Amino acid sequence: MMMLLMDKIALALANALALPEAEIRPLLEYPPDEELGDVAFPCFTLARTMKQSPANIAAQLEPLLADASWSVQAAGPYLNFKWNRELAAAQLIADWHSGSLMRAAIGNGERVIIDMSSPNIAKPFGIGHLRSTMIGNALYHILRKVGYETVSVNHLGDWGTQFGKMITAYLKWGDEQQLASDPIKGYLELYVRFHEEAEQHPELEDEARSWFAKLEAGDAEAVRCWSQFIADSLKEFNKLYARLGVSFDHFLGESFYNDKMDAVVQQLQEQNLLEESDGAQVVRLDEHELPPCLIRKSDGTSIYATRDLATAIYRHEEMKGSELLYVVGSEQSLHFRQLFLVLGKMGFAWAAACKHIPFGLMKLDGQKMSTRRGKVVFLEEVLDEAVQRALQKIEEKNPALAGKAEVAEAVGIGAVVFGDLKNTRMLAVDFVLEDVLNFEGETGPYVQYAYARTQRILAKAADGDVAAAPQPADYVYVTGDYAWLLMKMLLRYTAALGDAAKRHEPSILARYLIQLAQAFNRFYHHDKVLAGEEAERIVKLKLVQAAADVLKEGLELLGLKTPKEI
Ligand code: ARG
Repeated sequence: MMMLLMDKIALALANALALPEAEIRPLLEYPPDEELGDVAFPCFTLARTMKQSPANIAAQLEPLLADASWSVQAAGPYLNFKWNRELAAAQLIADWHSGSLMRAAIGNGERVIIDMSSPNIAKPFGIGHLRSTMIGNALYHILRKVGYETVSVNHLGDWGTQFGKMITAYLKWGDEQQLASDPIKGYLELYVRFHEEAEQHPELEDEARSWFAKLEAGDAEAVRCWSQFIADSLKEFNKLYARLGVSFDHFLGESFYNDKMDAVVQQLQEQNLLEESDGAQVVRLDEHELPPCLIRKSDGTSIYATRDLATAIYRHEEMKGSELLYVVGSEQSLHFRQLFLVLGKMGFAWAAACKHIPFGLMKLDGQKMSTRRGKVVFLEEVLDEAVQRALQKIEEKNPALAGKAEVAEAVGIGAVVFGDLKNTRMLAVDFVLEDVLNFEGETGPYVQYAYARTQRILAKAADGDVAAAPQPADYVYVTGDYAWLLMKMLLRYTAALGDAAKRHEPSILARYLIQLAQAFNRFYHHDKVLAGEEAERIVKLKLVQAAADVLKEGLELLGLKTPKEI
C-alpha cells in the first residue's frame, strides 16, 4: 500500500531528527494559505527540547530533507513542503486503483450500540427526532466504514404515565374513523384535548393514573388500547424511515425493560445506594454536585432513568456492546450524566464506555416545537414541501429529465438531511427550507449535483470504462492548480472520515464533501476535462472517477441518495 503523503514527510523528518515518527506526525499541518505550500512543519515544539530558536531549527533541517517527492523551504519558524505534483498524482491514482485512497481503519470490529431516533408512541415524529435519526444513521455508517461493528437500536418511548392519559382520552373521545385515516394527528388531538380538559376537570388526572396502573398490571383493556397506539404509530414511523432510507437492527422500546427493572432496584438496594426522598427512592449524586437520580416515584411507579439503567445493563451484558452511544438532544444531558454516574456507582467499569452524543435544538421558523400545545410541524409535511420545491427546481433546470419524481424525492429529502448534518451537532439549527435546497449553496443538492456532473462527464467521455484503462504514462496534465486542489481534497477523505468517527461528528464529513464538490466544480470549469488527446483525457477522467467515488460514498454514509442525473 502506498504511503500517505503526510506520513512520508513525517518519516523523513523523524529520520532527520532521530525522533519517533509518532511524535512528529501530529505536528504537521496544512498551511492556511495554499500559496505557502501543501504541508507545513512548525518548529516551536522542537525549540523547547532542542533549546534553539524555531527559525534556526527550520534552517538546519531544510537541506537534510531534500526528496524527489517534494520541495522544501524554511520560512521563519516553519518548514514548508510542496509536493511534486506529477508524482503525487501518480500515487493518488494508484491509491485509487488499489482502494487505499478510500480505506480508513480505526476500529477493530468492536461492537458499538447506537441508541437513535427513539420517538414516542402516539406522538408526532418531530423534527428533533429527525436530528437523532439522521445523526445516528450517519454515525452508524461512518463508524462501520472505519472498522467498528455497529448496531442500531430504536428505543421507542412506549411506556410511561402519559399512556394513562392517552387511554383515558382514547376511550372517552377517540374517533375511530379519524384515527384510522391519520392516527398520529388523531392521537395528538386527543393528547392536547386531555390537557385542556384536565385544567377544568382535575379528576381526569386520577383516572389517567389508574389507567396507567392497570397497564402496568397487564389489564386486558389497557393493553389492547396501548397495543393499538403502538401499531398505528409504528406504521407511520416506518413510512418515514423508508423515505429517509433508515433502518434499525432492533426496535426495543422502553416497555421491553419492564421485567428487567426490579433486578436493578434490588441491586441498588443491596449496594445501599438507594435513599428515601419525599417518599420517592433516589440515588444521591451530591459528590458530583448534581441533583439526585430518581429511581422510583412515591406511588411506586418506575421512571425513565430506571428504565435506562436496565437498558444499559442489557446492552452491555446481553447485546455485548463494548461502547454504548446515545444520540439524544442536549436537553437530556443531565439525565445521561446521572445515568452514567449511577452505573459507575453500581460498580460497572464499562460505564466509562457510555457516551451521550447530544445535539442542539432545531428551530423551524424560529419556533421550538412543543407537542403539548399541538404546535407541531409534522416532519412529513416538511419533507413533502422539500420534495415539492426540489421538483420545481428540477422542472426549471432540466425539464426533460426522466424519473423526475424519484429524483425530486432524493434531492428534497437529501436537502433536509444534509441541511441538518452539515451543522456541528451542538449548534442550534435554524432550519430554512429555501436555504437547504439552494443548488448553489453549501447544501446536499449542491454535492449531489456535483456527483451527477461526474456521471454526465463519464458518460459523455465514451472512452469505455475509465477504471479499466491502463495507468496513464504521463501525469503532467493534472499538475495545474485546480487539478491539484482537487487531488489534495481527495487525499483528505480518510482523515475527514477518521475525525468524523472519533468526534462523533457527521458535520466533518458533510463539510468535507462540500469542499470536495467545490474543488471538483472548479477543476471541471477550468480544466476542460473532455478536451485534449487521449492520454490527457484518460488521466483527467481518472481524477473525475476518483472524485465521483468519494462523493458517492460520502453522501451515502450520510444517508443521501446519489441520482446519476439531476
Ligand atoms: N423517547 C425519548 C424522547 O423522545 C428519547 C429516548 C432516548 N433514548 C434513551 N435511551 N433514553 O425524548
